[in-house]
Amino acid sequence: MKILFYDAKQYDRESFDREKERFAQIELDYLEADVNAKTAVLAKGYDAICAFVSSDLCGGVLEILAEQGIRLILMRCAGFNNVDLEAARQKKITILRVPGYSPEAVAEHAMALALSVNRRIHKEYIKVRENNFSLEGLMGINLHRRTAGIIGTGKIGAAMARICQGFGMKVIAYDKYPNDELSFVEYRELEDVLRESDLISLHCPLTVENYHMINSKTISLMKDGVILINTSRGELVDTEDLIAGIRCKKFHGVGLDVYEEETENVFENREAEIMESSVTARLLSFPNVIVTSHQAFFTREAMSAISSVTLENALSYLEGRICKQNQV
Ligand code: NAI
Repeated sequence: MKILFYDAKQYDRESFDREKERFAQIELDYLEADVNAKTAVLAKGYDAICAFVSSDLCGGVLEILAEQGIRLILMRCAGFNNVDLEAARQKKITILRVPGYSPEAVAEHAMALALSVNRRIHKEYIKVRENNFSLEGLMGINLHRRTAGIIGTGKIGAAMARICQGFGMKVIAYDKYPNDELSFVEYRELEDVLRESDLISLHCPLTVENYHMINSKTISLMKDGVILINTSRGELVDTEDLIAGIRCKKFHGVGLDVYEEETENVFENREAEIMESSVTARLLSFPNVIVTSHQAFFTREAMSAISSVTLENALSYLEGRICKQNQV
């Protein structure tokens, strides 16, 4: 099976090349460019492509891929909101993904964002390097005995709930399907979770129904001085409403590993460019906001699991024994 790997970075190659030794039937070619309407034609002659969170897999691109003979797309990630599933079905393209490569990697990053923004580590790191040892503006809150509100208690939300429990927090959550393994978590309605939490962490997938679930109305329900963390998908939060809330001093801190405008930025070095839109710049202008670049998944363990499951997915397709759990 010949697979064209789009948007390949050095760390992708290293990780996939290491795993590939176990898969004699699979040949991988790496492309630096991501898949889009222009680059999809390069898939001619391949059996499958491998894509990622910011790949453009809209109906038009899927049509071009289908014309090149592509019948399998291997998503090397959990999320698939960037894939037009209806178009894929029509074109008989199978989409396989890696549903849970390392929930702890993402949850640990969510807590890292919460801790950093709470204690202003991002400010302090720079200040101390300039010999400024003042404590002005650095006061945080204890997380111990506070309430953590987890929205979405699947694999990552459950890992975050366990971490919060370890910090001595009371953990409440909202999910349509409560997780039976989390006996220490109290499930509530979404509005109650928003009202009662000191730390709110988003861990649900992006769907049509929860687009902009964090907006001016839901922000107004939150406690003053709340910490909001989003490691899930940018579009869960209405960024303009978030910025308005930050300006009204609603939040003690906001930590974003994902944000609405990230697609152009994700994993790219844009240091020398003039940014054409101001949303990211405005977010970065606030002292109580930390933005990271969709890196929550990025640990050695997670990369190794991603490569291994992606190649297993390819093999399972080849051998006609697809793992239904990994199929979108
Ligand atoms: P999962 O499928 O194990 O759990 C998702 C949970 O969210 C399920 O329990 C589901 O019932 C719940 N849910 C669905 N809609 C909801 C809603 N409107 N409100 C509340 N709960 C809702 O997924 P997993 O593995 O925990 O991943 C969650 C999300 O994290 C992914 O969909 C992806 O968007 C994001 N993610 C981010 C990464 C990063 O590097 N920043 C890496 C991996 C995933």
